[in-house]
Amino acid sequence: MNPQRVTIIGAGTMGLGIAECFALAGMDVVLVDASPELSDLALKRLARRVRAHVDAGLLEPSALDRAAAVTTAKDLATAVADAELVLEAVPEDIDIKREVLSICDDHAPLDAIIATNTSSLPIDELAAFVNRDERFLGMHWFNPPEWTPAVEIIPSSRTDVALVEGLREFLLAIGKRPAAVGSAPGFVANRIQFALFREAVACVAEGLATPRELDELLRGSFGFRLPFYGPFQIADMAGLDVYESIFSVLAEGLGSDWEAPELLKRIVAEGRHGAKTLGGFYEYSAAERDMLLLERDKRYAALNQLLGELPPRNFTPRGTADDQD
Ligand SMILES: NC(=O)c1ccc[n+]([C@@H]2O[C@H](COP(=O)([O-])OP(=O)(O)OC[C@H]3O[C@@H](n4cnc5c(N)ncnc54)[C@H](O)[C@@H]3O)[C@@H](O)[C@H]2O)c1
Repeated sequence: MNPQRVTIIGAGTMGLGIAECFALAGMDVVLVDASPELSDLALKRLARRVRAHVDAGLLEPSALDRAAAVTTAKDLATAVADAELVLEAVPEDIDIKREVLSICDDHAPLDAIIATNTSSLPIDELAAFVNRDERFLGMHWFNPPEWTPAVEIIPSSRTDVALVEGLREFLLAIGKRPAAVGSAPGFVANRIQFALFREAVACVAEGLATPRELDELLRGSFGFRLPFYGPFQIADMAGLDVYESIFSVLAEGLGSDWEAPELLKRIVAEGRHGAKTLGGFYEYSAAERDMLLLERDKRYAALNQLLGELPPRNFTPRGTADDQD
């Protein structure tokens, strides 16, 4: 799969950034919003955004020409008429999605792929709004889409499996880091992000930390590792037996929701305690394990240097102990 003509519908927070990303990848992009006036405005906003990125030294000046090549159309039907790939990024409202998707289905070429950037609506439910359900799927980007590498690919129960692989290859080719996941509430990334956020809010509500302290702590501990490793590799490097013991303390203090997951208990019972036993969620030879740990150290040293060069700007959180002193 190598779509060259792409139409983005909805030029808000996400659609504008995705349009920038596709335009910079050399694709012919049509960007359309809810009215011709809003669509024209969207092209101007896109030009300003790319200009700001060029001025900040984040993009080469040639990006300006790419952005200027993005076009719009007088209406949605015209916008999709010649598309190979259509991505809707209209508000998270099932009625708006229904209307937009059915127009796309009626007017896009029969073999065009239609994708939705929904963050939470079930993909099967949205697939019911198109007839070509084997060529429909979720393509969930993350904000800001032009810089954030991950894209969740979410097939419906009727999506052609070849389409999932084709889309994965295509996204890799334009520099993204796609992952195919199942359709469940919040898909995968948001479910995990919100689990973390729920606990962060609970810690503040219980008076364990202020938002500022908690942000600092997370950035410098768990979050510090995430640019390089996911939770399974992090757990393997820490020791799965250690994780199991921590779960027992959490369950004792916070309740049975915090029991160690069965999968973890089983792996630990098999003597697979992570990198130190050369097997956990991943398998390692001794040489691979040593290389993993050395590479980890190099990456963390480089990240520490980058953080020293680009320290975050801190704001005073509202409504907390911080702004009362
Ligand atoms: N904001 C995020 O961080 C984020 C991240 C991932 C996914 N999403 C999802 O992406 C989608 C868009 O979110 P957003 O944050 O960009 O929303 P937004 O409100 O910033 O933008 C939506 C755009 O769609 C336009 N629009 C409304 N009705 C339309 C229509 N009938 N035809 C064409 N355009 C129309 C609006 O004018 C607006 O410009 C949602 O499904 C959202 O859940 C958002």
